[in-house]
Amino acid sequence: MTFNAELAQQIAFEDIPRDDARYFEGRAKEIEEFKFSLNASTRRAQAVFRIYQGAPGCGKTSLAAYLAKINPDTVFIKLSDRHLTDFASMMERIKSAASRQEGRYAVTATHWTAVAIERLAGRALTEELQKAAQEHSTDGLRFALHVDEAHSLKNNALDVLKELHVGGLGEADQIPCVVVLTGLGHAKEHINRHPGLTRSGDSTTINMTAMTSQECADSTMRMLTELEPDEGSVAVRQSLSDLAAEAAFGWPRHLQSAQKSICEALIEANGSALALDHNQIKARCAELRAEYYEERMKDIIAPGGDDELAQQIIAQLPKQAVRASDWQLDEFCEQVVRKLWLSDKPIPDIEKTRESFKENGIVERKDGVWALSIPSMAAWAAQQLTGIR
Ligand SMILES: Nc1ncnc2c1ncn2[C@@H]1O[C@H](COP(=O)(O)OP(=O)(O)OP(=O)(O)O)[C@@H](O)[C@H]1O
Ligand SMILES: [Mg+2]
Repeated sequence: MTFNAELAQQIAFEDIPRDDARYFEGRAKEIEEFKFSLNASTRRAQAVFRIYQGAPGCGKTSLAAYLAKINPDTVFIKLSDRHLTDFASMMERIKSAASRQEGRYAVTATHWTAVAIERLAGRALTEELQKAAQEHSTDGLRFALHVDEAHSLKNNALDVLKELHVGGLGEADQIPCVVVLTGLGHAKEHINRHPGLTRSGDSTTINMTAMTSQECADSTMRMLTELEPDEGSVAVRQSLSDLAAEAAFGWPRHLQSAQKSICEALIEANGSALALDHNQIKARCAELRAEYYEERMKDIIAPGGDDELAQQIIAQLPKQAVRASDWQLDEFCEQVVRKLWLSDKPIPDIEKTRESFKENGIVERKDGVWALSIPSMAAWAAQQLTGIR
């Protein structure tokens, strides 16, 4: 057994954001829902929508990448706002993305899209295209269009979604199509505000929450099995996996930090699992969690520009059941801020604070009240305020 230092380096110092989780676990319900949607798409002309929404770092992008991986016969195309300026641009993007893929249906998908583009534009098919269309039967061809950051799609993009919702992907020859929308907790609300999409996702929205502790541990166990650390007996690996699960609070983004921390420590200990100081790893996990929260807070408009006041709101929110309307959240923020507000002047723009909390996925509506999207953020905010890390 030799320690795989190269892999540890990659996990510890990976700066480039990846789409997929290296050690994906769980999400059975989300995967099952996608399977249902694929089946449903073969029975109807319109595209089938699935909205997966949840707070930052809950694993939306990783889920979509995993769905693509376990469904190699479905042609997965990633689309963003800039590909969705209009239907024709979207089709061009689908064609070029499909032509770069290697799956069983990639060539068929490329030809089919090329033909659809010509038909949409009212142009006659070239002989070459006619031949390609005849040679490649579309039996079995299925598309999944993945649109990330669905909570902030612009009107043009929403118009294109409406077309897919009403008419599907093709014209005469409909090809089964699932539209996978991923975004923050208010993605469905954002989409439903658009005329023609008011009911989309009603029964097909999945709210993504934390992973179980067991899933976090299993994911880490797989990582350690691959890393093959020295003196890494099952018991030693198990205790490290439990440590990662505890430090993750079930949150995928924190799990990633915990796995990174373990790899950093292993590199420092020259691959010896027995030499690791667990308390030091825990401290590093807390540091990375704090860094992540601090980064998130940069997008928040704090009352009067005072970050401490924003942290107070975060620390206090879980202690009260604040009903899930905007004005009640405003009132709560006012009440928290008022206690610490030193001047007689009115507190400025509390609505802006509230909106930035919503837009950036710090708070979301849960069971009729406002909740922190990442529950462990409250403990972090409280610690910040008391000066303990
Ligand atoms: N199912 C999973 N199993 C194991 N690890 C996961 C899983 N899902 C996500 N992760 C880890 O969590 C990290 C963050 O996930 P991801 O980037 O998919 O979240 P996101 O919801 O798309 O976040 P954002 O809102 O910031 O875009 C991933 O890089 C991955 O390491
Ligand atoms: Mg993402």
